[in-house]
Amino acid sequence: MSKIIIAIDGPAGSGKSTIAKMVAERLDFTYLDTGAMYRAITYLALQKGIVENEEAVNELVAGLEVTLKYENGITHVFAGDFEVTEFIRSPEVNSKVSEIAAMPIVRKELVRMQQHMGKFGNIVAEGRDTTTVVFPNADLKIYLDASVDVRSERRHKEYLEKGVEIDIEEVKKNISKRDKIDSSRETSPLKKAENAIEVDSSHLSVEQEFEILFENIKKKIILIKSQNN
Ligand code: DC
Repeated sequence: MSKIIIAIDGPAGSGKSTIAKMVAERLDFTYLDTGAMYRAITYLALQKGIVENEEAVNELVAGLEVTLKYENGITHVFAGDFEVTEFIRSPEVNSKVSEIAAMPIVRKELVRMQQHMGKFGNIVAEGRDTTTVVFPNADLKIYLDASVDVRSERRHKEYLEKGVEIDIEEVKKNISKRDKIDSSRETSPLKKAENAIEVDSSHLSVEQEFEILFENIKKKIILIKSQNN
């Protein structure tokens, strides 16, 4: 059977990661968490104190290979040989990642690495621009959305579960700021691909959202299989 690419896009906290992991596990596909790659660069830039220096960030990303290894529900993220998995979801990285992700050279380099991973096929790629720029020819494009309030509540809950004390208003401010930067940046702004299936999960449980999407995915896979026969 030909190699299938499913791409899932949407704003911060829309449930992309949860759904993408569920879909990848159900289909036994590889899960490609593109946001983790932008986070890895952001973490390193913070460590080096160069977040505000675009030229230095460009140099950093040009000399680096970011790789992902998905194992037992966890995406292990490597910058070169150095594993950064445990450092990339901090509030510091969250508050700077949109600025790093708006840098054209950073995007160019990471998109190149993501497209390379896509060559092996049977993947579920998740992240804003995966349906529009990274895999514009994906077999199935999905756009997930939810209201800012619902997305902020979800992120807040995730922080609390990790033992990070943070005010929900702070989370909401951060999400709104990221939405604004991500949708208005010049290079690959967040937008819904024309032929994407859109699901708003503001009033859906994760299970309900997954079932709706999985029905569509199953139909598409049956269609691809029948076209290949
Ligand atoms: O999905 P996430 O929250 O881990 O993404 C982190 C940031 O990286 C987010 O602000 C948007 C950006 N990003 C991007 O610009 N393009 C992608 N393909 C994935 C993430």
